[in-house]
Amino acid sequence: MFLVTLKDILDDAQKKGYAVGAFNTNNMEIVQAIVESAEEEKAPVILQASQGALRYAGIEYIVAMVKASLQKVTVPVVLHLDHGTSFAQNMLCIRHGFSSVMYDGSKLPLEENIAATARVVEVAHAVGVSVEGELGKIGGTEDDVTVDEREALFTSPEEAERFVSESGVDALAVAIGTAHGPYKGEPKLDFERLQKIKQRVQIPLVLHGASGVPAESIRRAIELGVCKINIDTEIRQAFNRAVRKFTAENPNVYDPRKILGPAKEAMKTVIKEKMRLFGCAGKA
Ligand code: G3H
Ligand code: 13P
Ligand code: ZN
Repeated sequence: MFLVTLKDILDDAQKKGYAVGAFNTNNMEIVQAIVESAEEEKAPVILQASQGALRYAGIEYIVAMVKASLQKVTVPVVLHLDHGTSFAQNMLCIRHGFSSVMYDGSKLPLEENIAATARVVEVAHAVGVSVEGELGKIGGTEDDVTVDEREALFTSPEEAERFVSESGVDALAVAIGTAHGPYKGEPKLDFERLQKIKQRVQIPLVLHGASGVPAESIRRAIELGVCKINIDTEIRQAFNRAVRKFTAENPNVYDPRKILGPAKEAMKTVIKEKMRLFGCAGKA
């Protein structure tokens, strides 16, 4: 298989009403866990790397590991930049072979976000790479903001319509009540807002901060037009729990392969569960 773009897989998801899982990777075990899960579940899949992941592993390693994994799979795989906050970062990923990028201009005023995103879209589309944009601020659970303050940062349906038509993005990340990182209480999603956005925007919508969001809310979000769902935190938690458990139970084992093997299996359990919940299992 070769890498495909968001458009290649999200059109089908949109037509048939399911979402494709986008899982964050930082190292070899996570790449393997994601790709093996996709192959075993027969699911199209998006592997994404954040700027932090690229700093940690090195862009060459991330690209090489994902490309190596393609030799073993039959399902479609996207390699996507997650939250690229500069033009240069997006260009670097395109040059290194990413099939998809995200320009995150959510901290910019609307006009500037549109202009900067459109600039990335022009180059990316010229070389067959898809682009995700973000409007509204998703933020993290660690951000010290009240519910009212967070709601003020949610995506406006009117602005979303303008952002999509003027920037030319292939997918839009929306802020409707989710946040990155672990939730303290149960996240409450603004489905009415999501519905209004969907009425004005034809492209696939993206749900960030989906770790810890109850299954019922995920299903509703998919019904209302979400076609790409981002999961990072729950993978990290599964990895962490498995490493701690193994080292606590086997204090004398020092072989990294023995420690990381169970962690990979634990991550696969989480990833496969998400693929079934999102409805992408069996769609490749
Ligand atoms: O959007 C946030 C992702 O979970 C990536 O997190 O920047 O720590 O790699 P990171
Ligand atoms: P979580 O922190 O909820 O896993 O969200 C990940 C994400 O949105 C990556 O862009
Ligand atoms: Zn995100």
